Formats: sequence, structure tokens, C-alpha cells
Amino acid sequence: MHIKHLALTAAASAALLLSLPAAAQFAKSEDAIKYRQSALFVMGQHFSRLGAMASGRAPFDAKVAQENADIVAALAKLPWAGFGPGTDKGAPTKAKPEVWTEQAKFMELADKMQAETLKLAAAAKTGSLDEVKAAFGPAANSCKACHDAYRSR
Ligand code: HEC
Repeated sequence: MHIKHLALTAAASAALLLSLPAAAQFAKSEDAIKYRQSALFVMGQHFSRLGAMASGRAPFDAKVAQENADIVAALAKLPWAGFGPGTDKGAPTKAKPEVWTEQAKFMELADKMQAETLKLAAAAKTGSLDEVKAAFGPAANSCKACHDAYRSR
């Protein structure tokens, strides 16, 4: 009787602990949504600058490319904390409900993108436009793969 009660309490505390990081990080769902959208927006701006150089729409400047690629790689880590449980609503969002029903698949695409942006940052460090061009395509595809599946238009 007592043992059963203890076990239940332990299970309940474990569940509470597991949900704490996300709950403690954002006061409300709206904040998590704003956070992820802001991180994605800023990352997108810096990613576009690299895209402009990779496609020849902007002149290649090795130093600027490296700065932008480093920012993208750092920001690529941030948005995912803003997709915690219960953040499917609370503010306007383009995230599809499948983000929360297919978390493993969603996070796999997030990991893939982080890996590609690290490769892009390494490419930019070489100072070679050809390296940047070669790494930009796969990185852009890693964005698209997730947007096609998990972002509505
Ligand atoms: C694992 C999935 C995933 C990956 C990878 C991903 N995105 Fe997104 N992105 C989303 C989702 C979902 C939204 C919609 C978020 C919302 O509205 O709450 C979004 C929104 C955005 C937005 C709009 C932000 C706003 O509200 O202003 C930009 C810009 C963006 N992504 C850029 C990128 C770029 C650039 C990459 C690749 C370097 C990328 N994303 C990779 C899932 C992803």
C-alpha cells in the first residue's frame, strides 16, 4: 500500500521533472512561439546573405561569408527548444500539428540541418567561394526538407 503510493509519487515527480525544462524556459506558449520564430527569422536573414554570395547575386567576401556562416551555425541550435509540448497553439504559427505527433522525425530533420550548417561554416572558413557554393546547396535542402513536411504556407 505504502510502497505503491511511493512508486506513484516517484513516477509523478519524474514526469514533472521531465516537463520542467520546457515549462521553466518559457513563461507561456506564446513566448516559445515568438522565440522559435525570431530565431528562425534571424537565422534566415544571415542564411540569405550566404545564398546571395553562393549564387553570385552578391560579391563574394570571404570574411563576411565566414561571419554569416558562424551566426547561422550558432542560431541553428536555438529554434528547437521553442517547439516543446503544448506550443502548437498560443500565437499565430505556421508549424503543422505533425511537428508534435512526429517529434522524432522532426528532430531528425533539425539535427540534419544543424550538421549541414556546421559543414557550411567549415566551408566558409576555407575562404573559398567554391567550397561555400558546394556546402550551401545541401544546407538549403535541409531547410526545405523540413519546411515541406512541417511548415504550412
Ligand atoms: C526541423 C524543421 C525545420 C528546419 C530544419 C528548418 N526550419 Fe525553418 N521553420 C520550421 C517551422 C516549423 C517554421 C514555422 C514556425 C512557426 O511559425 O511557429 C519555420 C519557419 C521559418 C522561417 C519564418 C520565421 C518567422 O516566423 O518569421 C524562416 C525564415 C525559416 N524557417 C528559415 C529556415 C532556414 C533558413 C532553415 C535552414 C538553414 C530552416 N528554416 C530550417 C521548421 C524548420
